[in-house]
Amino acid sequence: MAEQAPDHQAREFAAAFRSFLEWVHAPTGDENEVSALVRGFLEAEGARQSVVTRELAPFEHVNLQTAVNAWSAAAGRTVEVRGIALPPHYGGLTLQQLVAGESLPPLRLTAPALADLPNGPGTTLACLRLGLLLVTDQHGRYVVMIQAPNEHDPALQIEIAGLPVELAQGLLAELDRLRAELNVYRGHLLEVSLNPMGGVILSFAGPPGIGRDAVVLPASVLGRVERHALGVASHRDALLAAGQHLKRGLLLYGPPGTGKTHTTRYLLGQMNGYTRLVLTGRSLVAVGAVTDLARALLPAVVVLEDVDLVAEERSLGPSSSPVLFDLLDAMDGAAPDADLLFLLTTNRADLLEPALAARPGRVDVAVEIALPDAPARRRLLTLYGHNVPLELSDEDVDLAVERTDGTTASFLKELIRRAVLESLHDDPVLTAVTGAHLARALDDLLDAAQAVTRTLHGVGVDPADLPAGGALQAGPGRGGWVAYGRAGMPRRFGRYGG
Ligand SMILES: Nc1ncnc2c1ncn2[C@@H]1O[C@H](COP(=O)(O)OP(=O)(O)OP(=O)(O)O)[C@@H](O)[C@H]1O
Ligand SMILES: [Mg+2]
Repeated sequence: MAEQAPDHQAREFAAAFRSFLEWVHAPTGDENEVSALVRGFLEAEGARQSVVTRELAPFEHVNLQTAVNAWSAAAGRTVEVRGIALPPHYGGLTLQQLVAGESLPPLRLTAPALADLPNGPGTTLACLRLGLLLVTDQHGRYVVMIQAPNEHDPALQIEIAGLPVELAQGLLAELDRLRAELNVYRGHLLEVSLNPMGGVILSFAGPPGIGRDAVVLPASVLGRVERHALGVASHRDALLAAGQHLKRGLLLYGPPGTGKTHTTRYLLGQMNGYTRLVLTGRSLVAVGAVTDLARALLPAVVVLEDVDLVAEERSLGPSSSPVLFDLLDAMDGAAPDADLLFLLTTNRADLLEPALAARPGRVDVAVEIALPDAPARRRLLTLYGHNVPLELSDEDVDLAVERTDGTTASFLKELIRRAVLESLHDDPVLTAVTGAHLARALDDLLDAAQAVTRTLHGVGVDPADLPAGGALQAGPGRGGWVAYGRAGMPRRFGRYGG
């Protein structure tokens, strides 16, 4: 049997519980300290004004803070920042509730809670998560509340109480102007991803650091890509004077592992000063919002990687159009004189063709990035053997170049790696990678590649060995060293399929 608690303990507990209940049911009106602060700060006239609210995309949080900081520092304005503590999982606080002093959750005044958000590659800015700005300026006294996206509301909110509506709108417009002017994303390389609610996340990325020499393509191909992507910047004024549009779409297509992504990264590295937004995979569905952003941050590049991945996918909602069409529509929205480059990559040009044909003018240049020819394969061996103690005779190289006919650039990169491994197998101290190492690595890789080919054609393969779901790919997937198909390849290719 449990021991009886002494009397004084029970009394203490009762008192604590009573004060807890009082805290939870903090009565309406001036007894809630946060509401009391707001109501006490506003002038009688101000307290009667409408609360004006604006929602912003979550990725604007850091820009809003940047704008607010600049705005707060203006001459003739004082801004006091106060934080609000809400019990965990308590959401849905509005400035309206604070002004009215009603329907309030239990609140406390605190130091402002801050989110430390990136505002550049390697720098951050402390941003208000939930806070009140008590403002005094030429318009009198008013309150601005900022609420970061949270589990209850995925949008960033800014609310204004105490100003006539036009002045509140004017303040929002002023913050818009400052957000645009001071936009932290302008001129940077940004990777676009989606949060679990489908909202856009922008992450600063460092420079790709790929030099021109590291891109092994026929000179005519690389030259064409460069002219189209980079040439416009140097001839911007002349083009505009001659009535020519700057907006352009460049499609790189070709087999996996030939360097479409690699070339794209090289170009991005050359486009300093451009706002560069990179979308891949799932994030391609955000192309509309990202294009709007690009238009606001010109000059800009929007990279749409592996667009075929969404060629057949349909967006949710009533229109239910293929995501690819949304993507092409978004490309059409920008003004022709905007220095805006859309850079698309795919290894399924066939899937794209009908959509592109139905919407002309989106892609003005399509460049095939083909399998490397013999001179290119020779260059690739040199490029990826750069830091390797290669001891190869001319015949060794000739043989390797000959035997790698039909393979990809990434295959050659992998070949060097395997040859190094072969050498390490013989001697754990890397002294020399010889023709014999290279030949062994090649035997091994080509053998593996052929096994995949056999699998593809269903020749002499045990069904148990077929990859699940028909995912037939040699090497490590996209950008892999050699690939004969794409995950999801219909099983009918195999004798055991279908
Ligand atoms: N033309 C090239 N010159 C130099 N290196 C290359 C080239 N192509 C590919 N590589 C090397 O192989 C890697 C994989 O290539 P990459 O990811 O660019 O292929 P991809 O064409 O984009 O393929 P996927 O269609 O699967 O996306 C690159 O990171 C690079 O190291
Ligand atoms: Mg790629």
